[in-house]
Amino acid sequence: MKTLIIYMSTHGCTEQVVNELATALHGDVTTHNLKAKNEPDIKAYERIIIGGSIHAGQIQRKVREFCTNKLEQLENKQLGLFICCMYEGEQAFHQLENAFPEKLHQYAKAEAILGGEFNFEKMHFLEKFMVRKIAKVDKTTRRIDHEAIQHFTKKMDKTFSPFLMLV
Ligand SMILES: Cc1cc2nc3c(=O)[nH]c(=O)nc-3n(C[C@H](O)[C@H](O)[C@H](O)COP(=O)(O)O)c2cc1C
Repeated sequence: MKTLIIYMSTHGCTEQVVNELATALHGDVTTHNLKAKNEPDIKAYERIIIGGSIHAGQIQRKVREFCTNKLEQLENKQLGLFICCMYEGEQAFHQLENAFPEKLHQYAKAEAILGGEFNFEKMHFLEKFMVRKIAKVDKTTRRIDHEAIQHFTKKMDKTFSPFLMLV
């Protein structure tokens, strides 16, 4: 049973989360950053997890395009969706809803909001300005939700192999 995690990360936080997911999930897990030139071949995988981070309310364009282009092929996969972001509660939930096409939400076995970080070492001037002004944060702040990562991987693994419900 093979899993492919497809993602995009602007400042590296989503990449960290993807590595944590890859370690926690059962089975053979491969990761693919959509920054790469080659397209991932999803045919070879039974389980696909797609994620990205939210900037100014939107997930990365390449994630949106990938989802739209592969909509039909994704219907037959064990699908998981996640976002990294700094909003919590209702606002984060709306961002998750808007990040992926409606059809993918219907196909998904699990969806999650996995936290994020404001990394001032990696932001350029304008990003720092926006974060200070809008989020009122002026230093590196890390809020990756490790508990949510564990919960998401457990849910995906239960979907993947019903026998894991017994352990
Ligand atoms: C310029 C900027 C805009 C952001 N806008 C949002 C936002 O609209 N909503 C939100 O929840 N988080 C927002 N964030 C927080 C990011 O989602 C968070 O930093 C995330 O961990 C980034 O992941 P990445 O390093 O993989 O890109 C923003 C961060 C930056 C730097």
